[in-house]
Amino acid sequence: MYSSTEEKNYLERFLDGDDRVMLEKEARFKQIMMMYSSGIREVTTKLEVLNDDLKSRYQRNPIHSIKSRIKTPVSIAKKLKKRGLPVCVDSIRGNLNDVAGVRVICSFIDDIYTIAEMLTSQTDITLIKMKDYIENPKPNGYRSLHLIIEVPVFFADKMRPMRVEVQIRTIAMDYWASLDHQLRYKKDDLDEQTLTDMEQKLKHCADVISETDMEMLDIRKNIYGFRI
Ligand code: GTP
Ligand code: MG
Repeated sequence: MYSSTEEKNYLERFLDGDDRVMLEKEARFKQIMMMYSSGIREVTTKLEVLNDDLKSRYQRNPIHSIKSRIKTPVSIAKKLKKRGLPVCVDSIRGNLNDVAGVRVICSFIDDIYTIAEMLTSQTDITLIKMKDYIENPKPNGYRSLHLIIEVPVFFADKMRPMRVEVQIRTIAMDYWASLDHQLRYKKDDLDEQTLTDMEQKLKHCADVISETDMEMLDIRKNIYGFRI
């Protein structure tokens, strides 16, 4: 955990137990964040490989883009506190599913299910949970396919299954979710009527976007038939 013997000697001579515990905790936190980042890299590589293979077979990219993020320390602490859970490394590992997040933006709706199926059927991937907000959109109109998976990562001394939240959606669903997310920050400043209007309009936009997604899929199927 210490970066040099010199540092270790200094810590042992001049710092008391509490100081050392604090530094030890910081080091463990950094390490677990590194482990989650590694989980993201494994999943991203798997998705890139799938996209390249499908491209070479069908001359089309089912994945438009991939984004990823690690939850910030403040956001991790907030979520644990809100649920009355301790803020420590074991609690993070045991209670949070979304420290590591990967977002896959697909071209067409059926690509979402193709990618999800190909990823989750890989022998080293464990599917922990799936939520289909496309089949069952949220009342506000939000659509996406959410997977919680575990991917094995080989570290210096051990293999650890790392948990990653994968959100898969179309370009259109991502467009809606991004703007919804931006507008949500303004919510607290709005009066009740303006808020209701905004929510209704957003829901309407989500429904229009969903119809457009279906039409786009129809167009593709008319051109290519039912293949990917
Ligand atoms: P958390 O929300 O992470 O506590 O977990 P959960 O399991 O209750 O949530 P869910 O799986 O429904 O959603 C998790 C993530 O999906 C969120 O962090 C967002 O990234 C995204 N999401 C869910 N609902 C919405 C929504 O209404 N609008 C937008 N823009 N994103 C959403
Ligand atoms: Mg979340």
